[in-house]
Amino acid sequence: MNNEFIVTPWEVTGEIDYDLLIERFGTKRIDNEMLERLSKYGDLHPMLRRGITYSHRDLDWILDKYDAGEKFVLYTGRGPSGNTHIGHLVTWMFTKYLQDVFGAKLYFQMTDDEKFLFNDNLTLEDTRRNAYENALDVIALGFDPAKTKIFLDTEYIRTLYPIALKVAKKVTFSTARAVFGFDNSNNIGSIFYTSIQAAPAFLESELQGRNVPCLIPCGIDQDAHFRIARDAAPLLGYYKPALIHNKMFPSLMGGNKMSSSQPETTIFTTDNAQAIKKKIGNAFTGGAVSATEQRKHGGKPDVCSVFKYEYFLFEPDDKKLNHLYDACKRGEILCGECKKRLTERVVKFLESHQKKREQAREKLEAFILRDR
Ligand code: TRP
Repeated sequence: MNNEFIVTPWEVTGEIDYDLLIERFGTKRIDNEMLERLSKYGDLHPMLRRGITYSHRDLDWILDKYDAGEKFVLYTGRGPSGNTHIGHLVTWMFTKYLQDVFGAKLYFQMTDDEKFLFNDNLTLEDTRRNAYENALDVIALGFDPAKTKIFLDTEYIRTLYPIALKVAKKVTFSTARAVFGFDNSNNIGSIFYTSIQAAPAFLESELQGRNVPCLIPCGIDQDAHFRIARDAAPLLGYYKPALIHNKMFPSLMGGNKMSSSQPETTIFTTDNAQAIKKKIGNAFTGGAVSATEQRKHGGKPDVCSVFKYEYFLFEPDDKKLNHLYDACKRGEILCGECKKRLTERVVKFLESHQKKREQAREKLEAFILRDR
């Protein structure tokens, strides 16, 4: 087994063993029983069916509450370090699915503070501007403005701060250092930051003046923050937030995670057809050196980033996906063909997204929450 990978909120490297992560973090697998239970609320989302959304904390508890008539709120967020890429959209689409199925209110945190603190090259103006650009991508996915509120930390801090303070008082430096791997060179803002990311989990409870369960859909890389939030919760009289984790969206390089810091291997929501074609054209597939070789020995869909894109988002039909997998393995379909098909799909998807993204500019204010 491979132990040489790292998954923290600020670093994802190595070949991730997702099963091992469940053990390391102490989360629960979304097993068949859980899938069956979830399917009673609405058709299972492809990410659940395919094991992309694969781990949780207290999901059974929050569903029990829901069944007993106690509604929960959703909370997720985005670190506005740059443009939105397809990997972000996928998790937000899943969040939208949860909102639709459970009729839940959503709080969406834009951590302009976080990306300022953790990135030497970004000013607060940069992260603020990114946050508003990213918000357009969220809104473009069709969230209901009556049930969805987006805020930037720096603009909603008066509301968040008292909650963050309560959390911060319960978290020692020693815990933060152990969980996040801080050392003496980290700036002191980054040490406090986790309490800001914890705060929205308790926001609805504070605003309502009574405990409201909260479910957080997030990448498994964010779990560390919420382990801290969950430990603090009972000490503060709140419910522990429940979590539902997804795997990282793969990079076109074949690696673990699509990353904004590698623009050539990342498809942004604002990319044009030419850029998309070029990026997918250069994508890692693991295919054989020649067409003859590949026809003979077949391709490697398990490591192919083009196949992973189909798997994560672009081929929702399980039958067609399986067919593609088999055809590749048998050498019946070659990489060029797959790249061409994926390019067409991504271009079509993003052209439509970009239209909605522009329309979102007018709706923006209906979603934004600020301190008065
Ligand atoms: N820290 C996250 C990031 O860098 C952003 C974030 C804030 C978040 N709150 C969240 C992500 C809640 C998931 C759930 O992307």
